[in-house]
Amino acid sequence: MRITIEEASHLLNQGQVVALPTETVYGLAASLKHPEAISDIYKLKGRPSNNPLIVHVSSISQIYEFTSSLPPHFEELGQAFWPGPLTLVIPIKSETIPQNARANLTTSGFRIPAQKQTCQIIDNVGPLVMPSANLSGKPSGTNPNHIETDFGLSLPVVDGGSSECGVESTILCYHQNRWEIIRLGAIPAEAFTKILGYQPVFKEKTSEKPLCPGQMYRHYAPQAKMHLSDQIPTNYSGPILGFKERNYLTSKIELGSLASPESVAENLYAILRKLDDDKIQEVLVDMDFPQTGLWLTIAERLRKAALS
Ligand code: TXA
Ligand code: MG
Repeated sequence: MRITIEEASHLLNQGQVVALPTETVYGLAASLKHPEAISDIYKLKGRPSNNPLIVHVSSISQIYEFTSSLPPHFEELGQAFWPGPLTLVIPIKSETIPQNARANLTTSGFRIPAQKQTCQIIDNVGPLVMPSANLSGKPSGTNPNHIETDFGLSLPVVDGGSSECGVESTILCYHQNRWEIIRLGAIPAEAFTKILGYQPVFKEKTSEKPLCPGQMYRHYAPQAKMHLSDQIPTNYSGPILGFKERNYLTSKIELGSLASPESVAENLYAILRKLDDDKIQEVLVDMDFPQTGLWLTIAERLRKAALS
């Protein structure tokens, strides 16, 4: 059900869950004032309760009420990248955030989305928790049709068109005196060097208790079996997820252009979802692309999507 900004604000204030557009992906939103609505989000998504949610605000000053101390460079990072696809995980005063939103941790992730309708709703309602709008494990929703496919027509959704970035925010966490990337996202690692004086590192899950709880779970996966390869075997006869500039011996499903990782990211989840709409059982993914910048995020999403 498509709803207006006013209707969304009203429903959130009443303790209901609504889907909202952001520049990264759509989110399933609940007001921080309604812990029961926050629990409904976990049920709707089928999300494990130990996977915390990001708090979305519409200004940096709203974050101060949740914290007593801020890590170095917090404000510089916020000023450089907000509103936008950056989430910063920082220590909080635990009592200021419902326990179910933070999975019992003493930190929370914060972000100011760059989407006018959603910022207006946050101004009306106050801070919102918002995980990506998708069933747990599946590709995130990047347009209202995706939300309706996953949650049915009865879930209220604000139509903001297709999400501009198409992949989730980059998450940074301050750990052992440095900012680390705990989830690759729409902002490449290189972009932080100017502000931090170093490039934050990303470590794939190295322990049973990763800094980012989401790393423990399966993500972004369509039904179709995906095989990743940077060299297409000559005897392969199925469809290939590949690039505009390349010719393949079998049918091509276009991921986009090698000249624009931004456009590949933008369409990535829609393409993964379409594999299922088209009942494609198996696909080979051409992984022969650069290993820098936003391509690293794209590669990581494809690798996760291919895990079975
Ligand atoms: O772009 C985005 O970030 C989207 C849009 C809707 O804003 N949201 C999003 O939320 O991707 P979600 O819940 O799908 O992913 C949030 C990730 C999870 O992997 C979670 O484990 C991690 O952030 N996270 C949240 N709070 C955390 C915390 N306090 N410490 C470490 N990781 C945290
Ligand atoms: Mg998600």
